[in-house]
Amino acid sequence: MASLGFSVGSGNSCLLLRAAVSDHSNPNSSRDGFNPLKKGAKSRKRLTSTNVASPPLPAVAAPHLPPSKETDDRRSHVAWTSVRQERWEGELHVQGQIPLWLKGTYLRNGPGVWHIEDYNFRHLFDGYAMLARLHFENGRLIAGHRQVESDAYKAAMKSKKLCYREFSEVPKQDNFLSYIGELANLFSGASLTDNANTGVVHLGDGRVVCLTETQKGSIVVDPDTLDTIGRFEYTDTLGGLIHSAHPIVTESEFLTLLPDLINPGYLAVRMEPGTNERRVIGRVDCSQGPAPGWVHSFPVTEHYIIAPEMPLRYCAGNLLRAEPTPLYKFEWHPESKAYMHAMCKASGKIVASVEVPLFVTFHFINAYEEKDEDGRVTALIADCCEHSADATILDQLRIQNLRSYTGEEDVLPDARVGRFRIPFDGSAYGELEAALDPNEHGKGMDMCSINPAFLGKKYRYAYACGAVRPCNFPNTLTKLDLVEKKAKNWYDEGAVPSEPFFVARPGATEEDDGVVISMISEKNGGSYALILDGTTFEEIARAKFPYGLPYGLHGCWVPKK
Ligand SMILES: [Fe+2]
Repeated sequence: MASLGFSVGSGNSCLLLRAAVSDHSNPNSSRDGFNPLKKGAKSRKRLTSTNVASPPLPAVAAPHLPPSKETDDRRSHVAWTSVRQERWEGELHVQGQIPLWLKGTYLRNGPGVWHIEDYNFRHLFDGYAMLARLHFENGRLIAGHRQVESDAYKAAMKSKKLCYREFSEVPKQDNFLSYIGELANLFSGASLTDNANTGVVHLGDGRVVCLTETQKGSIVVDPDTLDTIGRFEYTDTLGGLIHSAHPIVTESEFLTLLPDLINPGYLAVRMEPGTNERRVIGRVDCSQGPAPGWVHSFPVTEHYIIAPEMPLRYCAGNLLRAEPTPLYKFEWHPESKAYMHAMCKASGKIVASVEVPLFVTFHFINAYEEKDEDGRVTALIADCCEHSADATILDQLRIQNLRSYTGEEDVLPDARVGRFRIPFDGSAYGELEAALDPNEHGKGMDMCSINPAFLGKKYRYAYACGAVRPCNFPNTLTKLDLVEKKAKNWYDEGAVPSEPFFVARPGATEEDDGVVISMISEKNGGSYALILDGTTFEEIARAKFPYGLPYGLHGCWVPKK
């Protein structure tokens, strides 16, 4: 284990007030999966222990994780390369100016380690959770990252093998009896992962929770130290094994959907701040089977919860398989059609269930109520990042696909801002069309955020990742003007940006008055935090990390207390 020893860019060198490093790999090993001392090492120098003041000890013994035999990580983009060390913290040198009003912490969750020893994971979503942190105060930026210490991660590091079922990975069984035992564990949920690698939310009571699709993968962390505090235990008796990875979280409530795989449908539930108990608002019965559609996310308006029923449906059979299918835990059932259901938040009653054109989405952007001149709700409008009803996007995200990309082919499936209209006039059909010309954002569209003050309300602006083609992954940041139907794009050739996250200026009256935070994985193996002006979408500051950060998924904002 190396407790320190870091390379920094000699040009835009970072000021490191304190750093704590626990290597995932032996820095002296020529088989090192990601060693910045090798890649581009000529222009870099090593820090010495004099830069380290009282480094905290890692809570998990640093594992030795050499690279895969299948892939030469040194050739792959840093976005898809396991982070080299379990944790780091330090102050970054800021180029430009961070607004003095920006006080608080941006946390970004996502997969950070895609291998155990010499075994490479298959899929982007398999990686063990890594939290990255940007703490802003008085124009300064303290940054860091740390692995989330889920049971799945700790067991893998200790035993040097996969111990829980990840998104596409299943632990290898030695014999038939072990396989039967593993199936029993699957039915009880014991073998499902708690690898909380998808999102992170700041609850109204101040707790910060990392989340994924399994309910057991709800893990409380300390936003200041990134310590893993422990599992978030739901104290109700609702049961079930999975939930939406993207609850709607505000200061006053936590709303989510619990899929019912036996009797296809969803329970809509609410949890109050300060409690761990979810209470049922109502139930949505799916219009078709054989299973509920995947609900990675869902939208709400001021008075309604919208349950999407996508033809990409959960599949119990695929859950049981030892080897992944092209659609992993899901199946594409176009014959089952697609539906949108609207539930009244107050009564739990279903007020509209309409068939809509086939669609595929991971992420809803926002929704709002359309009203007539008397103020009566006539329809709900719901926007999402829609992948042209093409479920192959899931397989595009295999880590080997991402790593082997040469930059020449254009393989990213087209995507758009899909806008649903769910009429309240008793009609059996709703609408789905592009909210703006997809060419505005390069026909790439995912990983979105809005001004949270406009959650559930009529809104104008969204921030997301778009595309400059050819590409295999969304590679721009884009500001969408859904009224003018225009997009403004930020692009850094070869870079992979993560979700643009909007933080409003305190006291702002304009919807886009604030900043947009993203973290960028560079083609040269580096990474930097990027701050864009929410209005102009021009860069106002960037701060380079002294190492390469992999791609990450979703973030949250923890304001200064
Ligand atoms: Fe997501």
